[in-house]
Order: sequence, then C-alpha cells, then structure tokens
Amino acid sequence: MGLFDAFRYDGKRVLVVGGATGMGAAVVQVVKDAGAEVVVMDRADVDVDGVKFIRLDLSDKASIESAIDECGGPLDALFECAGVADGTPGIERINFIGHRHLVERAIEKGYVGKGGAIGFISSAAGFGWQNNLKITKEFLAITDFDEATKWTQDNGKADYMFSKLTINTYVAQQAFPLLKKGIRINAIMPGPTDTPLARANADMWLGFGQDYRDETGIEPSTPLEQAYPLVFLCSDAAAGVTGITMVTDAGYFASGVVESFEPAGPVVGFLSGPMYGDAS
Ligand SMILES: NC(=O)c1ccc[n+]([C@@H]2O[C@H](COP(=O)([O-])OP(=O)(O)OC[C@H]3O[C@@H](n4cnc5c(N)ncnc54)[C@H](O)[C@@H]3O)[C@@H](O)[C@H]2O)c1
Repeated sequence: MGLFDAFRYDGKRVLVVGGATGMGAAVVQVVKDAGAEVVVMDRADVDVDGVKFIRLDLSDKASIESAIDECGGPLDALFECAGVADGTPGIERINFIGHRHLVERAIEKGYVGKGGAIGFISSAAGFGWQNNLKITKEFLAITDFDEATKWTQDNGKADYMFSKLTINTYVAQQAFPLLKKGIRINAIMPGPTDTPLARANADMWLGFGQDYRDETGIEPSTPLEQAYPLVFLCSDAAAGVTGITMVTDAGYFASGVVESFEPAGPVVGFLSGPMYGDAS
C-alpha cells in the first residue's frame, strides 16, 4: 500500500455506460488495468476478456431499468460515456435523459452509495452552460423520463448542444444533494477526439480547432487521453472534487477566453454565450 493507490481501482466494481467504442472503451481498458471489476453497457456488442456485458438502449426507459436491475450493486463508479451526434433519433434520451434515469435508478436501488463517484462525458460544446441556466434549469425540473423527452421535442431542444449544456448544469446541481449521500459527480468536456463518432462527423468534429492544432503541433486527442482524466475524477484521488466540468480540450477554450490564440476568441465567445436568447 502506498499513497498513489488512491488513483487505483483495486476492489472496486465499476460500470461503463457506452463502453463499446471510443472514449468509453478506453475507460474500460484503463479501469481494468487499474484493478477494477468492470461491467459494460452498450447498444453495441462488447467482447472484452473478463468484462461483463449488458445490452442497453439509452433511448428506451424499459431497457435502462432492466439493464441496471441485471447489473445490481455495489457500484463504486459509474462512467456515463455514451453519446450520439445531431441527426440521431432519440439524441435527447441517449445523451442525457437516459443517463440521468440510469444514474438515479442505481442510486435509488442503493447500488451506488457512500464513496461512490459518477463521471459524465459532456463536451466542450457545452462550455457556455453558466450563461444558459434559465432554460436548462427549467428542463431539469422535469424529472420524469417521458415528460422530459416530450419537453425537448416540443421546445426544439432535442439536440447535441442542449444535451451537453444540460449535463454540465446537472453535474453542478447534483453536487450538493449527492454529497449528502457521500457520492461525487463530475464531468469532462472533451475537445476533438479521434473516435468512430468523430470520424463519422469529421468535418465538424475533427475540423474544429485545426488552426490551433496546426500552430501547437498537436493532433486531436486520443480516446485514452480523455479516459485518463475521467478515471482520475472517479478515483479516490479526486475525493475532494465534485460538481466540476473539466475542460479536456488541450487548451483551445482557455486560449480563446484570454485570446492568447486570437482566432479562438470569437468561436469561444459564441460558445460561451446565451444560446437561447436570454442570459441567465
Ligand atoms: N469524439 C469527440 O470529438 C467528442 C468530443 C466531445 C464530446 N464527445 C462525447 O464523448 C462521448 C463518447 O463519444 P465517442 O466520441 O467516444 O464516440 P463513440 O461512438 O465511439 O462512443 C459512443 C458509445 O455510445 C454507444 N451508444 C450510442 N447510442 C447508444 C444507445 N442508444 N444506447 C447505449 N449506448 C449507445 C455507442 O455504441 C458507443 O459505444 C459522447 O458523449 C460524445 O458526445 C465526443
């Protein structure tokens, strides 16, 4: 035993939601290597040695409930990684409403408790969450799965940007009530990351910030480079950290805020601002 063991997952049971490919699959590899017993849920097949697979469709409430019941507890960490791009039917449920239902059911059933940690993958696209609180809080007040789904559809909010603004707001909102149960909740906000999802939307997802990467001599991040900070946030080493949305974008947004990389200024300014007309 040494101090650095706080970063490890020995003796921990971990659930990775959306662990078939991309960042979720990288999380599976890292936590497994860190000593965890791993359960993966995904709509796609997962066949990793020593890992239990449970099929899950996050757009379907019944599928979520049966998956979490099959998984059972205890769960020391929940990694909420699955996500889809604009144009995918059910995006509002897959990117947020389904994750929330799963997390809340796992807590309600007592599968996650004192010492537990929840880690979401949001996106740098949700950077402006603090200036959009009025609308996200209105939406988050609707806790029922079907009613929340209907609200996003009726209000033109069944989209990627709104789902990520919502994750960030949810993480901040839940820090206090969850900490009373001894549970932490955090998220990462990745920039362009080389995954199947990003490749399928390469112009927009992998083209974003190319000028910054050209000047700094870097590539889009790898799934592993995103998994590392998320795994840290759910480890005991981050025991003092909850309610944060950590920007994991190789510095693009920070450089835009202070305009040390000038071309990022207007992009980041736009993505920081109120998206829906009124600043909160
Ligand atoms: N790749 C990027 O550039 C980037 C940037 C910022 C944020 N993100 C976010 O990162 C997260 C992971 O995405 P990725 O880039 O690793 O993509 P990915 O497509 O490789 O991984 C997403 C996973 O979610 C699963 N999934 C999709 N729909 C599902 C459903 N209905 N039910 C259950 N599982 C489902 C997929 O099968 C896959 O395993 C997403 O939330 C995405 O929004 C990605």
